[in-house]
Amino acid sequence: MKTILITGGTGLLGKGMEETAPKDWRIVSLHQRDYTVDASRAEHIALDIREKKLVDALFSKHKFDAVIHAAGIASVDYVEKHYAESLESNLVGTLNISSAARRAGVYMTYVSTNAVFDGRKAPYAENDAPNPVNKYGQIKLQCERLVSETLTDFSIMRPILMYGWNHPVTRSNTVTWIDDKLRRGETVEMVDDVTENPLYNLQCGAALWAMVRKRPAGIFHVAGKDRCNRYEFALKIAKAFGLDSSLIKRVSSKRFPDIAKRPPNTTLRVQRMEKELGVPAVSLEDGLKSMKTRRNI
Ligand SMILES: NC(=O)c1ccc[n+]([C@@H]2O[C@H](COP(=O)([O-])OP(=O)(O)OC[C@H]3O[C@@H](n4cnc5c(N)ncnc54)[C@H](OP(=O)(O)O)[C@@H]3O)[C@@H](O)[C@H]2O)c1
Repeated sequence: MKTILITGGTGLLGKGMEETAPKDWRIVSLHQRDYTVDASRAEHIALDIREKKLVDALFSKHKFDAVIHAAGIASVDYVEKHYAESLESNLVGTLNISSAARRAGVYMTYVSTNAVFDGRKAPYAENDAPNPVNKYGQIKLQCERLVSETLTDFSIMRPILMYGWNHPVTRSNTVTWIDDKLRRGETVEMVDDVTENPLYNLQCGAALWAMVRKRPAGIFHVAGKDRCNRYEFALKIAKAFGLDSSLIKRVSSKRFPDIAKRPPNTTLRVQRMEKELGVPAVSLEDGLKSMKTRRNI
């Protein structure tokens, strides 16, 4: 039995990884707060990755065969307003995990983001020049550089706007938020000037396991098959789940002047994912259909 450490293992990405896990891997799932998670086959550890001593002790106690480093503050707006705390959690945390991985000689995949791009020249390939427009994207790019300087046996994955069933203890995503609001009969305002190719968390899980198996080097973009703006995405969610689409109001980003700036179009090219990892991009229709059948699992 091999052992993998997934930092941020209870987040949407970690949940997607756990649900697509091969049987012959033991999963150590690390998160910050101390809580229990229902229906999880992982061994859970509550540990703050900002604490170097605790991270080093974890790597002394376990012999990991692979590390997926996804933990950190992933809310773009929270990072914009809490820069110092986010630097600690994302940058210092990444330094602690990658130095421990280097000393242990273990292959690590760092989970970055589409937000490293400015959104003016989509679709983006892995070798296109990054130019983040908000603090979250800036810190994630710093983390990519730190990982590249610290490790020799590593890869970087850049997922994009992710959707899927999250653990109730973690934050909602576009689909679960819209589902909840429309079921309550509440109106939602969705912007029509932010475009992505949304990613189903189970597809992201499959791509990460392919990386663990193949141990490639370099950067991989991971995204879904269909490009849409957030307003169009909301309409597709309402249609797939049989909800009232008249509650969805089309607005521009100017409607929300107080939140972090978003890059207008960060659609990712996924040829490398498809050819080298052998993972097909999932359409929105299929991703939402799969979610529908997995509700409450
Ligand atoms: N979701 C997306 O749309 C998206 C898109 C592109 C890239 N990404 C990247 O993908 C990764 C995973 O995102 P996600 O959406 O799955 O995240 P998430 O649902 O917000 O979960 C974050 C996870 O990180 C843990 N964590 C946060 N700070 C920590 C700390 N100081 N020490 C230990 N654990 C800590 C959280 O633990 P607690 O629950 O205990 O707080 C939780 O398990 C992130 O690196 C994010 O930047 C996400």
